[in-house]
Amino acid sequence: MAKTLASLLDKMWNDYVAINPLAKKISDLLTQEGEAIQNDHIALRTFNHARVGVDVIAKPFVDSGYTYKGDYQFPEKKLYAKHYEHSDETLPKIFISELKLEEFSPALRSMVEEFISQIPEGRERDFDFSSQGRPWKVSITQYNELLKESDYAAWVAAFGYRPNHFTVFINILKKFSDIRILNEWLKKTGFQLNASGGEVKGTPEVFLEQTATLANNIEVSFDDGKLTIPACYYEFAKRYPMKNGKLYQGFVATSADKIFESTNKGQ
Ligand code: NI
Repeated sequence: MAKTLASLLDKMWNDYVAINPLAKKISDLLTQEGEAIQNDHIALRTFNHARVGVDVIAKPFVDSGYTYKGDYQFPEKKLYAKHYEHSDETLPKIFISELKLEEFSPALRSMVEEFISQIPEGRERDFDFSSQGRPWKVSITQYNELLKESDYAAWVAAFGYRPNHFTVFINILKKFSDIRILNEWLKKTGFQLNASGGEVKGTPEVFLEQTATLANNIEVSFDDGKLTIPACYYEFAKRYPMKNGKLYQGFVATSADKIFESTNKGQ
C-alpha cells in the first residue's frame, strides 16, 4: 500500500495507464519527441455521500501538503468539485468532483447507498483509497440503469476509486506548447479528440485552454458478465498569465463541463 505522496502519485499513474494504455502511448511519444512531461492535474470522481465525499477523498492529499484553492458547480451534470494545490508547484493539482445525489431519483440514490454500504468500515480513510479501484459489486443491469440518469454515476459505479484522467501541463513543452499544434499532432498520430464544444475548450481570456482525448473503451467485469465501456481519457492544459503576471491555477466550469463528456457512452 502506498504510504507517501510520491508513491501514491506513482500508483495512481500506473493504475491509470493500466486501463488507459493510450495515455501511456501519448506520454511515451511526447518523451520520444524530447519533451519532459509534468502533470497539471489529476481528476478524481466520487459521490457526495458522507463516507466518500470530496473532503474524505481529499484528506490524504491535504495531509501531504495540499491546500484547498477553489470550488466549482456543474448544474447541468449535477456535480460539485474542489481543487487542491501543493506548495511544490511541479506537483499536479488534485481536482475532485462529486455527484449531488439529492438531485437524482430515489432509485439511483438507493443504488449508490447500497454500493457504499459494501465498503468495509474505515477503508475509505486508507491513504491510497483513491487508487484502490471499485470497492463494491455492481451488475450490468445496475450500470445500465445508472447510465439513464448520469454517465458520471455509471462511470464511478463501474470503476470506483482511481484517476479519471491525468492532464499534461503543456506550457513547458518545447514543440507542443501551442494547443492547436498539439491537437494537430495528436490527430495525425491517430488519436481521437473530444469534440464536444470544440476541440479546444476555453480561451486565453479565461486563462485556460484544455483539450482531451476521447476515453478508450475497455472490457470491464461486472457481477453478471463483461461489458465494453468508456474508461479514461488523457487531457492537456495550457495556462495563461493573469493581470498580476501569475499563471491562472484554477479551472473553468464551462470547459470542464464539456470535458466530463469524454467518458460518455454516446461519443
Ligand atoms: Ni481535467
